[in-house]
Amino acid sequence: METTPSLILASVLHNLLIQLLLLPYQQNILALAAPGGGKWNLLLSNIGVSAMHMQLLNTDRVVIFDRTDFGPSNISLPNNQCRNNPNDLTLKVDCTAHSVEYDVASNSIRPLNVFTDVWCSSGSAMPDGSLMQTGGFNDGDRNARVYKPCSDRACDWQEFDAVLRQKRWYATNHILPDGRQIIVGGRGQFNYEFYPKKAGADQSYNLPFLSQINDPRIEKQFVPICFLERGWKFVYFRQQSRNYPTIPGGDPRSYPSSGSAVLLPLRDLQAGANVTAEVLDPNNRPKSTMAMDTMPLARVMGDMVLLPNGNVLIINGASSGTAGWDLARNPVLTPLIYRPNNPIGMRFEAQNSTLIPRMYHSTAVLLRDGRILVSGSNPHAYYNFTGVLFPTDLTMETFSPDYLDPRLVRVRPKIVSPVSHSQIGYGQHLVINFTAQGRINRGFIMVTMVAPPFTTHSFSMNQRLLVLTNRAEISANVTSLGRSNYQVRVMTPNSNLLAPPGYYILFVVYREVPSEGIWIQIK
Ligand SMILES: *[C@@H]1O[C@H](CO)[C@@H](O)[C@H](O)[C@H]1NC(C)=O
Ligand SMILES: *[C@@H]1O[C@H](CO)[C@@H](O)[C@H](O)[C@H]1NC(C)=O
Ligand SMILES: *[C@@H]1O[C@H](CO)[C@@H](O)[C@H](O)[C@H]1NC(C)=O
Ligand SMILES: *[C@@H]1O[C@H](CO)[C@@H](O)[C@H](O)[C@H]1NC(C)=O
Ligand SMILES: *[C@@H]1O[C@H](CO)[C@@H](O)[C@H](O)[C@H]1NC(C)=O
Ligand SMILES: *[C@@H]1O[C@H](CO)[C@@H](O)[C@H](O)[C@H]1NC(C)=O
Repeated sequence: METTPSLILASVLHNLLIQLLLLPYQQNILALAAPGGGKWNLLLSNIGVSAMHMQLLNTDRVVIFDRTDFGPSNISLPNNQCRNNPNDLTLKVDCTAHSVEYDVASNSIRPLNVFTDVWCSSGSAMPDGSLMQTGGFNDGDRNARVYKPCSDRACDWQEFDAVLRQKRWYATNHILPDGRQIIVGGRGQFNYEFYPKKAGADQSYNLPFLSQINDPRIEKQFVPICFLERGWKFVYFRQQSRNYPTIPGGDPRSYPSSGSAVLLPLRDLQAGANVTAEVLDPNNRPKSTMAMDTMPLARVMGDMVLLPNGNVLIINGASSGTAGWDLARNPVLTPLIYRPNNPIGMRFEAQNSTLIPRMYHSTAVLLRDGRILVSGSNPHAYYNFTGVLFPTDLTMETFSPDYLDPRLVRVRPKIVSPVSHSQIGYGQHLVINFTAQGRINRGFIMVTMVAPPFTTHSFSMNQRLLVLTNRAEISANVTSLGRSNYQVRVMTPNSNLLAPPGYYILFVVYREVPSEGIWIQIK
């Protein structure tokens, strides 16, 4: 099951590489297809904590944390510090860290201090690039915590006690057009609230839908799957639905069954708000339906990662059982790439497999260089390395999709300007200078921007990808500036409803091969 697809795809890759390298002027060769396969690399054999939650910051550092009442982790707090927390349910004095910062550039980890319990909490990056994380368990369930990125080693968590109206354990956050976050649900919470609070508007609001899930195995909806659509309206995946089509089969999708979900790339941005509404909102389009497709491999607890070229990576998880304590079996070691533009039946492509099971409490996030950072897996209440079927895993790997194959170096675009961390406004002309060796077919250039999500429990909160180029006009919008130098002109998203303020990674993509991204801040 695992080797055959990879072998077949290896020969596909070979052919496509030949076509890419030798026939760069021909049209249509790669309009739909792209190389398959991919490569796994073990980055670190021990990051000290189990990566239950991950968020990439605009410093190319990844904040990682598990929970504080897991007993000792495998990394000490800096400077012989210990955390003295009489409320901790396991260790009142704990000299190990439960959060770390991973630095992509140096491939290294440093421990961070988080005080109250962040177990199964939620979060999102803020407009200024800080990570804001809320809730958790026990003494942390109404707290907010901010991690302001820095380029040295000085930054750490800042905590704000009891600022939420409700306890938020297993909630979901999403950034809103006004730069605040909405915090939805949590165990036993059929309501939502906003943070930071506005004076006089700090209550929580009922959302009865969260109590209507029909999975008999759980109390109610955990980690609600939630997308921002047209600003203040929310789209929920659910089994029974009044406003959106019922998903055929009625199988449960959210925790503990733990399917995953992404908002597919938002295209044609000038009309984008309308286009997305049509797809998702049956009130505007009564014949809207849920299209079903079948994955080549069964999977629970997978993670879905939007790739810079608009494809979706499905990675991690198991093929039987559910989330929670030791309840899953048969790890799925083979990621899939999903190509939303292919016809149904031709959208999934199996990739090279890893050797490391990523069960409950594992995560995957996109890096600016196009690799996917993969870590975590701990289906136990503590760190258990022996005597269990799936030991607590502290390794960190990357999966490099085949667009990173070194043989594609000649066609890989490289952004020359703007410089990383440039600011852009809404609905503006943006000129991007880039290089690509040799002459390219301008019709196959695409510019995308990706919001780096907060990932936990098979869901990446705030994950969205916007396609800034229009296929019909792209040839006219790309200019050759002489040998290997090109310029592409795009319009930035026309509203904060499409692109809430904050940092995004901007990519120039040629025939599904993305450049290294640059950070841009939209405000
Ligand atoms: C799969 O991974 C192996 C080991 O890293 C590598 O040798 C092989 O080239 C990969 N296959 C493809 C199709 O990339
Ligand atoms: C981490 O694990 C290693 C190997 O088991 C052990 O030698 C080391 O003491 C541990 N460190 C901490 C801080 O627990
Ligand atoms: C939405 O569609 C209407 C009618 O076609 C159009 O007038 C309006 O400009 C569109 N809005 C956006 C944001 O594209
Ligand atoms: C897991 O680790 C905890 C804490 O060290 C220990 O109490 C428990 O017995 C371990 N579980 C197993 C199955 O070994
Ligand atoms: C982009 O390239 C054009 C043409 O070479 C040049 O005039 C312009 O200054 C470049 N833009 C930046 C920001 O470097
Ligand atoms: C892209 O090209 C089309 C067709 O020439 C033009 O109407 C549009 O304004 C161009 N877009 C940008 C951002 O320059």
